[in-house]
Amino acid sequence: MSTRNTLPEGVISLPAHEAHARHVLDANAWAYFAGGAADEHTLRANPAAWEALALHPRILRPVAGGHTRVSLLGRSLAHPILLAPVAYQRMAHPDGELGSAVAASAQEAGLVLSTQASTPLEAVADAIRSDPDRGPLWFQLYLQHDRGFNIELIRRAEAAGYEALVLTVDAPCSGARDRERAAGFRLPPGISAVNLAGLPPRPARDLAPGRSGLFDDLLHDAPTWNDIAWLQAQTRLPVILKGVLHPEDAREAVRQQVGGLIVSNHGGRTLDTLPTTANALPAVVDAVDGSLPVLVDGGIRRGTDVLKAMALGASAVLIGRPYIFGLANAGALGVAHVIRLLRDELEIAMALCGARTLQQLPNGLLGKPAQPAR
Ligand code: FNR
Ligand code: LAC
Repeated sequence: MSTRNTLPEGVISLPAHEAHARHVLDANAWAYFAGGAADEHTLRANPAAWEALALHPRILRPVAGGHTRVSLLGRSLAHPILLAPVAYQRMAHPDGELGSAVAASAQEAGLVLSTQASTPLEAVADAIRSDPDRGPLWFQLYLQHDRGFNIELIRRAEAAGYEALVLTVDAPCSGARDRERAAGFRLPPGISAVNLAGLPPRPARDLAPGRSGLFDDLLHDAPTWNDIAWLQAQTRLPVILKGVLHPEDAREAVRQQVGGLIVSNHGGRTLDTLPTTANALPAVVDAVDGSLPVLVDGGIRRGTDVLKAMALGASAVLIGRPYIFGLANAGALGVAHVIRLLRDELEIAMALCGARTLQQLPNGLLGKPAQPAR
């Protein structure tokens, strides 16, 4: 584990943070944070898909006085970048989730705290809640097998000041994490999902020979569409679904009046050979037709990627691994640096494309008419 708190020399981009973090993290942590499912096709394809979209800049347009502001769920944000929920951040650096939160707040970025955070959700919220310039503070929810425990967890998130619940719907079970298994991945001593402490054990189901541990046991607890209505009835917070790829699911989510969608393939960590998020986003944006904010994550590594996501109709973007690599390299300072780099690159990209605001992107920025940013 790294305990560094100064920016390493020469680390001037998100890819440079990743290259540096590879030498800072031990093999165990690297396998967990950097790895993906199976052959890691989706893991590689996500950034490649953003890269493959060409920008078609416009020249000589007035861009002075421009800005990166967006509005999201009724709030005005300085820029459209949020930190995606990532579990066990104290395995990357002792600053852990607190470091990420303080950095997000200092850089006016949103923060989505994982259910599997290694820091109490109250401590994270307390560290930033009162900062007037911070971005949105959301809690990512993995529904557990115990309804009472879920309700308690939701109450804790509400009481701590979280402003939305992000229900992750693309991981009812773990993916085939070949890289982790090959590395013999284990959580180090002292790192655990502390917010799940006190969760009663899953009731043992008697598995007759020949029955599936997945279908006949674990998946009995997996959420379904019926649980969305249940969840919404438990809370006054907006419920955002994370892990949407199919436009039919997006339409169902609209019917169920959820608060927003995150187009995501879990950063290539669940099922391999999924569509890239750059490719899946436009059909989901079309399907919701402006009725909900649609966010996107997966493979966003450059300001140009953020601009492209916005041109495809995203309301905002999330980054996962890049800020974890920043955290590994320099704690909270590294996370702040990653967000700042991405913000600066986004401004440069907008300026060089003739885009004064994200609400009025030039038509044809991606070689075809742009979706209006929402
Ligand atoms: C994740 N992700 C994730 N998602 C979630 O809903 N709950 C979680 O606890 C986690 N944990 C987690 C751990 C690690 C190590 C990674 C890399 C990712 C997925 C995450 O929120 C996001 O969807 C992806 O990381 C986005 O892709 P990029 O930016 O990492 O390419
Ligand atoms: C992961 C789980 C925690 O991707 O979502 O590791």
